Amino acid sequence: MAAAMRTQRAVRRLHTDPVDHEILMPLLELSLKAPTSSNTQDWTYLVVEDREQKARLARLYRKLYRVFNPITERLARGDDKQLRQMRPGQWQAENFEDLPVFVIPCYRRNIKHRPVGRPQISVASYYGSVFPAVQNLLLGCRAVGLGASLQTLPIWQIPAARRILGLPRSVNPVCIIPIGWAKGRYGPTTRPPIGEVVHFDRYGNRPYSGTEA
Ligand SMILES: Cc1cc2nc3c(=O)[nH]c(=O)nc-3n(C[C@H](O)[C@H](O)[C@H](O)COP(=O)(O)O)c2cc1C
Repeated sequence: MAAAMRTQRAVRRLHTDPVDHEILMPLLELSLKAPTSSNTQDWTYLVVEDREQKARLARLYRKLYRVFNPITERLARGDDKQLRQMRPGQWQAENFEDLPVFVIPCYRRNIKHRPVGRPQISVASYYGSVFPAVQNLLLGCRAVGLGASLQTLPIWQIPAARRILGLPRSVNPVCIIPIGWAKGRYGPTTRPPIGEVVHFDRYGNRPYSGTEA
C-alpha cells in the first residue's frame, strides 16, 4: 500500500489498448469504499469508451487547450525543465480521443451539498464526497499498473459536458480521469518535506521544520 502511495502520480501518456471491464469494474467498486458527507453515497461514474463520445469530449477540451497552451508555453519560455514537464499534458490533449477510457466521477447535488454557492461547508461537503473515491481509484490504478490522472480542465464547461454525457441537471461531472496502460513512468513524486507542512497546535509551530522527519 505504501509503495503505491509513494509512486502514484499523474500518468498522461497512455497506450491505446482497451482496458478490460474485468479489471476496471473491481477498481471502480473498490474506489467507492470511501467516505461521503452524511453518508449520501450519491455518486455516478460515467465511463466513456465510445469513440464519438470521446471525440466530443476532446473537442470541448481543445477549445480551452488551444487558448491556454500557447500562453503557458510563452510563460515557460527559456525554462527547459518546465517545457519538458508540459509535454505529457500536451501529448494527451492532442491525442485525447485515442485514450482508451475516461472515468467521469459525478455527484448529485442536494440542499446540503452543492458544488457552488454558500455556505462554504456545503461546497466542501459536495467535493469532499467525490475526491476520496477518486484518490482510491488513482491508487487502485497504480496498484495494477494502469496509468491515470485526475483532471478538471477537459470538462471546463460543465453544461456542455453535462449535455454530452446526458446527465440530468441535478448531477454534476466533477472531474475526468483518463485511464490506460501506462506509457509514461510512475513516481517517485516530488513533495515538500513533511516537517514544512505540519504545524502543531497553532499555525507557525513547526518543530520538524528543517529536519528529515
Ligand atoms: C483538483 C485537481 C485538478 C487537476 N486538473 C488537472 C487538469 O486539468 N489537467 C492535468 O493534466 N492535470 C490535472 N491535475 C493533476 C495535477 O496537475 C497533478 O496531480 C500535479 O501536477 C502533481 O503531479 P504528480 O502527482 O505527477 O506529481 C489536477 C489535480 C487536481 C488535484
